[in-house]
Amino acid sequence: MQPPFTLALGGIFILLAAANSYLMLRRSPDSSPAARAWRVRAHRFIGYLFILLYCTMTYFMVLRLKGLSDELSPRILLHASLALILFPLLVAKVVVARYYKGQTATLRILGSLVGGISFLLVTMSVGAYLLRSASSASVSGTLSVTVTIVFAVVLVDLLWRRPRSANASPAAVVVREAPKRNSVILQLTRVERQTHDAKTLRFVIPQEHRISFRAGQFLTFNWIIDGQTVPRCYSICSSPTQTGYIEITPKQAAKGHVSVFLNQKASIGLTVEASQPAGQFCFDEKEHRRIVMIAGGSGITPFLSMLRYMEDRCLSTEVTLLYFVRTRNDIIFETDLNLLQARLHRFHVVTVLSDPDPQWLGLSGHLTRELFEANVGDVFSPTFFVCGPPGMMKAARELLESMKVNPSRIKQESFGVVPAPAPIVPNSVIEMARVEFARSKQTRMASSSATLLETAEASGIQMPYGCRQGQCGTCVTKLLAGQVQMDAEDGLTASQKAQGYILPCVSHAKGDVKIDA
Ligand SMILES: Cc1cc2nc3c(=O)[nH]c(=O)nc-3n(C[C@H](O)[C@H](O)[C@H](O)COP(=O)(O)OP(=O)(O)OC[C@H]3O[C@@H](n4cnc5c(N)ncnc54)[C@H](O)[C@@H]3O)c2cc1C
Ligand code: FES
Repeated sequence: MQPPFTLALGGIFILLAAANSYLMLRRSPDSSPAARAWRVRAHRFIGYLFILLYCTMTYFMVLRLKGLSDELSPRILLHASLALILFPLLVAKVVVARYYKGQTATLRILGSLVGGISFLLVTMSVGAYLLRSASSASVSGTLSVTVTIVFAVVLVDLLWRRPRSANASPAAVVVREAPKRNSVILQLTRVERQTHDAKTLRFVIPQEHRISFRAGQFLTFNWIIDGQTVPRCYSICSSPTQTGYIEITPKQAAKGHVSVFLNQKASIGLTVEASQPAGQFCFDEKEHRRIVMIAGGSGITPFLSMLRYMEDRCLSTEVTLLYFVRTRNDIIFETDLNLLQARLHRFHVVTVLSDPDPQWLGLSGHLTRELFEANVGDVFSPTFFVCGPPGMMKAARELLESMKVNPSRIKQESFGVVPAPAPIVPNSVIEMARVEFARSKQTRMASSSATLLETAEASGIQMPYGCRQGQCGTCVTKLLAGQVQMDAEDGLTASQKAQGYILPCVSHAKGDVKIDA
C-alpha cells in the first residue's frame, strides 16, 4: 500500500479507537436509559468496524513483512509485536462484553489497553513517516497527525476528568461523621431520570466497605434533611454483581418528605449513611426456577435487581412480570425492561395501565382473575413475588389465596404506608412493663411507649432490623408470653400472625412480655 493511503487508514483506525474510548469512559450523570442504550449500540458498532480495519491492516502488514529480505528494524519489530498483542486483547474484550457484562472494570481496562496500543501503533508510523518526509504536505499525512493529536487530547481529558463537582443544595447536608458499626457512607455519583416523578440514584461504595447483597434486598438510609436525620428504606435496583455501586429509584410521593427531597434536591456529591442490606424478599436461583413477579408503581425496583442479576449470570429462570401502573408516563425502567426482555429468552413482561390513553394497545384495568389466568397459566409451580402499593398487594394476596396457592410460595415486600403514631397509654393503666428476652437471658423494665426493639437495644441485645416502620419484616420475632400493641403489621404474613410472631420495631408491651430474642 502507498504510504499516504496507509496513513489515512491509520487515521481512521485511531479515530475509531478514540470514539470508542470516549463512549466507554464518558461519565454522564443525567443520561437517560434510551441515551445509554444508544451509546451501547454505537460502541458495539464502532468496535466491530475497528476490528474489521485491524484485520485488514494486519493482513497488509504481514504481506509487507513477508516481502522484506533484510533483518527487521527494531521499529518494525516493535510495530508488528504491538499489532499482534492487540489481537488477544480484542478477543478478550469481545468475550467479556458478550458474556460477563457485569465486569465493567475489566472492560474499561481492556478498552483502555486497546486504545493505548492503537495510539502507539499509529504514532510510531506517523512519526517515522514525518521524519522521512519532513516536507510532506500531503492531505493524509496532515490528517493522521491531526487525528492522533485529537485522540491524545480526548484520552487525557477522559482519564483525568473527575465526576461533576458537588453542587449540593443547602438542604443536602453532607454526613461527615464516621459511619456507625454495620453501616457505610455512600456518595451520590449519578442521577438518572426515569419518569416525571422517579429518578434512579447511583451511589458509589467506598473500597474499604464492600456491600454484598442478594437481589431483592433493600438498604435503610439515614438521610439528613434540614439538619434532621430521617431514616427511610429503598430497595436496591442494581444487580448484586455490581460491587462498586448500588442504585435506588425513589418515586416522589405527594408531599413525601424524603422522596421529594431525593427527586428535587439531591445532587451529585451528596453523602448518606446506610445500614447493611436487609430483607427476605430475595431471588435465589437454586430455589426459584419459575417465578411470577407482580409489581405496582415503584414496587418494580427489587425486580430490576433480580432481572439484571439473571442477565449478568446468564440464568434461564422462567419469569413473568405483571407490572401495574396508572399511565404510560408512569412506567419506570421501560427501556431497561424492553432490553431485558430481548436478552432474557424466558422473561415476559405484561404492562397493565389503569388509566390508559387512546393510543395504548396493551392491557388495561386492574389485577383480576381473568387477566391473571390469561398471562400466568399454571399457578402451582411458580413462586410469586409481590411488591407494590397496599391496595394492589391486598388484591394480589386475596387472588392467590382464592386460587389455593401455597402461602409458602408467596413472597411479598411492602413499601408501606405512614404508620399510625404510637399509642398513648394512660399512666394509670400501664406505666412500666417487664420485658424478658428469652435467648439472651435478660429481663428489663421498659416504658410502654418504647418499642421492644428500642428496649432490646437499650439492653445491649442485638436484633436484626430494616425499616423500623413495621413494613419490611426483618425484625420478626416470636412472642412467647404476654401481649403487645403493634403500630403496623404489614411486615407480617397471615401465617406468621397466626403463629404468634410480632414486629418488635413497632411493638409496645401491654403488661409483662417474653420474646424469643
Ligand atoms: C423495604 C422497603 C423498600 C422500599 N423501597 C422503595 C423504593 O424502591 N422506591 C420508593 O419510591 N419507595 C420505596 N420505599 C418507600 C420509602 O421508604 C418511603 O416510604 C417513600 O419514599 C415515602 O417516603 P417520604 O419520606 O417521601 O414520605 P413520607 O413523608 O413518609 O410520607 C409518605 C406519604 O404519606 C403522606 N403522609 C405523611 N404524613 C402523613 C400523615 N400524618 N397523615 C397522612 N398522610 C401522611 C405523605 O403525603 C406521603 O404521600 C420502600 C419502603 C420499604 C419499607
Ligand atoms: S424493622 Fe422492618 S418490620 Fe421491623
